[in-house]
Amino acid sequence: MGSDPALPALQPREAVLRMAPYSPPTGGRADKLRLDFNENTIGCSPKVVAYLKDALEANLFAVYPEYGETRAALAKFFAVDEPQIVLTNGTDEAIQVLVNTFVDDEDEVLVLHPSYAMYRFYSEVAGAHVKELSYRAGTLAFPLEELLAAITPATRAVLIANPNNPTGTGVGLPAIERILQAAPHCAVLIDEAYFEFSKVTALPLVAKYPNLFVSRTFSKVFGMAAMRIGVILTQAQNAAMMRKCQSPYSVNLLGAIAVRAAIQDTEFVESYVGEVLAAREMACAGLAKLGIRTYPSEANFILFEAGDRSISIRDALRARGVLVRDRSYEIAGCVRVTIGTRAQIERFLKELEQLW
Ligand SMILES: Cc1ncc(COP(=O)(O)O)c(C=O)c1O
Repeated sequence: MGSDPALPALQPREAVLRMAPYSPPTGGRADKLRLDFNENTIGCSPKVVAYLKDALEANLFAVYPEYGETRAALAKFFAVDEPQIVLTNGTDEAIQVLVNTFVDDEDEVLVLHPSYAMYRFYSEVAGAHVKELSYRAGTLAFPLEELLAAITPATRAVLIANPNNPTGTGVGLPAIERILQAAPHCAVLIDEAYFEFSKVTALPLVAKYPNLFVSRTFSKVFGMAAMRIGVILTQAQNAAMMRKCQSPYSVNLLGAIAVRAAIQDTEFVESYVGEVLAAREMACAGLAKLGIRTYPSEANFILFEAGDRSISIRDALRARGVLVRDRSYEIAGCVRVTIGTRAQIERFLKELEQLW
């Protein structure tokens, strides 16, 4: 049915009209080697699948989820008190709830560029002004001094990925402490989606800094992106305020119970991290052999320079069944490849070699 031309179209909010649409290429990936979204490339722990199969029964789906057991298990896993945890529908909801709790319409949010797109996205949806600082040209290093200088009384949130996506570069704890001290009036998010690869965490600082929020996700190393589960870890008074702003059932039951099995299989995570780190070295060496520059990465992906061929290389790899992400729209000439197993990287390098 078409709309009645006599009736005016409904106007969305100004903030929504101002936003650029964001639509990551998520279709048609099933039969390809997926080195494009920084996921776990072998799937989650088989113990998670077995646990779910065993737990599934019709009644489970009929009731709204309860989170008590999951929250208790996660508190133990992250070594925090239960009231310090906010369970979220992935990091994405963590960012959304943080912004909705602490940032008002017209407030300023500081983000880095290039970085994870959802920081800008949820800030803009909230009607905030986004101030953007660039990673250092040439090295893509964290711009600490520039960030410290950019914090003003108007800044309400500082959103940082550590290590950062897509640059792969990280920032150390002394620098994070300087930011926390320079921004006592801001919600400072340290998004540790790739923590297991970098092993740098701001979590021990949570007890000291009431403005610190650490997010973790089960979408990456744990291989559960489709389950949509993550957490925010912060002081209890912040967590209580965030829960106040959150839908009571935003985390679905499958994610909430699967995560309990996932955190028990630490062997799976350790072994996958070991495999990825070995494959990352292999990728850097293989790309160097082809004369391709890479940026140092602390995560399960690397950026490499393809010059003016970034889009054509991406397309040619796709035609050969290998997916990578073009990032040339934000870092000239760069392509991002997710690191999977050594066998997968071997295939990627072999295909690339034939195109290069
Ligand atoms: C820095 C960073 N944070 C968060 C996410 C998304 O996490 P989630 O699936 O938990 O929403 C990504 C995914 O690419 C990411 O790169």
